[in-house]
Amino acid sequence: MPRKHAPDRPGFHGDKYLMEIMDLLLRGADAFVETGCNRGFTACHVAGRHDIPVYTCDVRKPAVDETIERAERLSLGSVHTHHKDSLAFLQHLHDELPTEALVVYHLDAHGPRNEEWIVPKELAEIVSTRGKAVILVDDVQVPGKPQFQNNVCKGVPYTHDIIKEAVFETAKKNGRMLPFRFWQPGYEDKTSWFHPLVGWELITYGVGSITRQLRGRADVAERS
Ligand SMILES: C[S@@+](CC[C@H](N)C(=O)[O-])C[C@H]1O[C@@H](n2cnc3c(N)ncnc32)[C@H](O)[C@@H]1O
Repeated sequence: MPRKHAPDRPGFHGDKYLMEIMDLLLRGADAFVETGCNRGFTACHVAGRHDIPVYTCDVRKPAVDETIERAERLSLGSVHTHHKDSLAFLQHLHDELPTEALVVYHLDAHGPRNEEWIVPKELAEIVSTRGKAVILVDDVQVPGKPQFQNNVCKGVPYTHDIIKEAVFETAKKNGRMLPFRFWQPGYEDKTSWFHPLVGWELITYGVGSITRQLRGRADVAERS
């Protein structure tokens, strides 16, 4: 039976702070790459606001079909949807995208039961192949701010420490320690009309001017 398609919604859970931060980051980007499209809300949201190619993927065919249908209906020809596992998708894209391109990533691939947290492997793929990047990781714990929900995999929450370890271990293995910066929400209020607050972490490297802009904002907090 065909899946009933949901009405259009903004991306990034409809969190107005996060939408604004991502607009700032996407203004200077050459491409947006997302793992896990689900209904295509975030892919279409970005494609509707920024004149850059949007690449997204999902392991579930109905999710891919719905995203393709949504992008077509909204005449968003810049959305490229792949029916692929996230790691295979990233490897494929990294063979295609020019090395100097600034990519903004949205790592959001997870199953309903969070059987595996794929993000450390995705980060390893990105950090070992790209000299600069902006990476938004979804569903991460925000310490001291329990109003933000986060995912848990096999009893272990998605945390900054796991993210940082994946990034540093990869950089060390590849012999190139880059100036990695880590950021989390600096705000606490819920602004979405349809979704609870969701924790996130942003990783930036090789993008000095973006770092300076993020440092001047009250809605982002740098993590050590
Ligand atoms: C939270 S939803 C994505 C929501 C979407 N990014 C948005 O903002 O509108 C997570 C999606 O990840 C997909 N997924 C889970 N494991 C995956 C994997 N290994 N590779 C690609 N997609 C995966 C799921 O099928 C699901 O549709």
